[in-house]
Amino acid sequence: MNYTAEILKFKKEKNVLILAHFYQIPEIQELADYVGDSLGLAQKASEANVDMIVFAGVHFMAETAKMLNPDTLVVLPDLEAGCSLADSCPVDKFIEFKKKYPNHLVISYINTTAAIKTLTDIVCTSGNAVQIVESLPKNQKIIFAPDKNLGGYINRITGRNMVLWNGICEVHDILTTEAIIKLKEENPDASVIAHPECNAPVLSLADFIGSTTGMIKFTQLDKNRRYIVATESGIIHQMQKLSPEKEFLIVPSDSTCNCNDCSFMKLNTLEKLYLALKNETPAIKLDIDVIEKAKKPILRMLDISKKLKII
Ligand code: 13P
Ligand code: SF4
Repeated sequence: MNYTAEILKFKKEKNVLILAHFYQIPEIQELADYVGDSLGLAQKASEANVDMIVFAGVHFMAETAKMLNPDTLVVLPDLEAGCSLADSCPVDKFIEFKKKYPNHLVISYINTTAAIKTLTDIVCTSGNAVQIVESLPKNQKIIFAPDKNLGGYINRITGRNMVLWNGICEVHDILTTEAIIKLKEENPDASVIAHPECNAPVLSLADFIGSTTGMIKFTQLDKNRRYIVATESGIIHQMQKLSPEKEFLIVPSDSTCNCNDCSFMKLNTLEKLYLALKNETPAIKLDIDVIEKAKKPILRMLDISKKLKII
């Protein structure tokens, strides 16, 4: 079966929007109507006017799209496509944690379940986290969940002292300074660019830190020609496509692996995308009460991003 041809056929026949994250395989990125970071994908979902959204990404992203489009069918090609960061913040434990910090505002990274979003005041992504925190008064007490690496990075940048939930992304947190230093020794002219989900020692080696969109834009505008890239390997496709003359070296996650893949993101395949379009399943289902509560901090994030012109 030629899945690409079949998917293109469905795109013509059905009133569908295919959204894909930069960590998807290149073939899926090429078939998507829009490929972006978590913020861009949420912004696109908020503008959608279609019968069905097929989300080539992970569960929390498709859930966000559903909350922004409660009456639209939102399909995730593989419902098992979760996220280690979202998993690191179970709702019962978070309720107990929150009780310890009264008078604190909750900022949650978008990589959380809908249940955590119902307990959140403002959602953020790596593309707007610093600006969202800075938009609040200096004396505002804040709980930041669930990524301690992103939260720690924001604390260092803004001089705040947000209380951090102890969660990590298992793909980014595993990257080491040793692997980067080795690549840098072999390629001294290359700049190091990193996603803020990396741990603090890795971030301390970076010439640039940003969301996936931020990293891609940086490589397009920057004068250098070679980059050591500390994030998931799927991003290289767009970087290479947009800057064909440049060279990108992905940081390996350990000595036995030359790749750096998110196993959740990579559960989506061309076959599953084809089946999702054909059968219009598996659908994201959320209670309307959950949608009503969890949508508020997402809309707050979109509103702040719009005012600050963050895309
Ligand atoms: P961004 O694409 O928003 O930077 O997020 C990266 C990520 O890990 C998504 O799960
Ligand atoms: Fe979650 Fe990390 Fe995978 Fe992103 S890369 S989806 S944060 S596990």
